[in-house]
Amino acid sequence: MLKVAVIGATGYTGEELVRILAGHPHVRLAYVSSREDRAQKIQDIFPYLRGRVDLDCRPFRPEDALGAADVFFLSLPHTVSMRTAPALLANGKRVIDVSADYRLPDPALYERHYGEKHADPERLREAVYGLPEFFRDRIRNARLVANPGCYPTSALLGLLPLARAGLAWQGACVIDAKSGVTGAGRKASAALNFSEVNENFRAYKVLAHQHEPEIAEGLKRAGGKGAFVFVTHLLPLDRGILSTLYFQFPPGTPEKRLRDVFESAYAKERFVRVHAAGRFPGVKDVLRTNQCHIGLALREETGNAVVVSAIDNLGKGAAGQAVQNMNLACGFPEEAGLE
Ligand SMILES: NC(=O)c1ccc[n+]([C@@H]2O[C@H](COP(=O)([O-])OP(=O)(O)OC[C@H]3O[C@@H](n4cnc5c(N)ncnc54)[C@H](OP(=O)(O)O)[C@@H]3O)[C@@H](O)[C@H]2O)c1
Repeated sequence: MLKVAVIGATGYTGEELVRILAGHPHVRLAYVSSREDRAQKIQDIFPYLRGRVDLDCRPFRPEDALGAADVFFLSLPHTVSMRTAPALLANGKRVIDVSADYRLPDPALYERHYGEKHADPERLREAVYGLPEFFRDRIRNARLVANPGCYPTSALLGLLPLARAGLAWQGACVIDAKSGVTGAGRKASAALNFSEVNENFRAYKVLAHQHEPEIAEGLKRAGGKGAFVFVTHLLPLDRGILSTLYFQFPPGTPEKRLRDVFESAYAKERFVRVHAAGRFPGVKDVLRTNQCHIGLALREETGNAVVVSAIDNLGKGAAGQAVQNMNLACGFPEEAGLE
């Protein structure tokens, strides 16, 4: 059994990782940490873990952690991961970073969108972007995987089949994305109070979201170059992302062309499902799973097309995909622990 660690185990993505890894057939969860010292066991913080895990949850200390595990999941805020990963990597550990710190290849781009100079710029070239459906070969044996963001996962799974097939859209595709509140992490904030979010629905960070360059980079990595407009919204839900992508194709483009592109891109994928004509996914279809469900439609006379992509932000958008990446990097069956 490979020994694994979750750093930031008390946050939303860390908790989800602990839950999945506790039931994984090929690994043993051997170390968990948080920032605050609660002097508690992880199964007392999350009582449903009793009987499945027995681990102290203490602040991260490299001297304790290094001997405890071989693979480290970093469920840490951005800027913290890039200060935590180097010592682990230097000691031969494998790192799956759930934060944004290693997702952008250009340190100047990172500084512009995350407001801080990158602390580990040399490793940006070594890091592998962990979207398995498109970059699987690079993820195999990777030492440092940059797990994609939740919005980019839902958007790129709707965009990259077109990029790969060379089916170009006209003008800018609109990515109208909506997320549940866990997308913002567990830390308290006035804007995320129950009374602010409940019975409400609003756009935020309009044309200024930090995931926009990551979507652009993902498109570039897959050989695509179409323009897009990306707008994010906060849903009064715990978890789930629904992204509706609006495209303009030349009038006369048959719907079958679009459907063939998606069906052939995902025919062999276990975690992406293309719905039949006339059916569109909702966030409950993918709740607590590592799946992405896609529905699509195209009006031939006008060339207007819509692709709807649904994921669980903590599943395929974070912890599920991180485990899928570990499975690939470590040579386990890709679906181990995830079905
Ligand atoms: N939430 C999502 O849907 C989602 C999806 C994809 C990617 N991500 C990314 O994944 C990362 C974690 O997100 P999250 O939503 O799980 O965040 P979160 O709920 O805020 O949890 C953060 C975790 O990191 C620990 N932590 C915070 N500051 C720290 C520090 N300075 N040093 C050491 N540990 C520290 C926290 O410990 P304490 O509990 O002790 O404070 C907690 O365990 C973020 O980079 C986020 O952008 C999130």
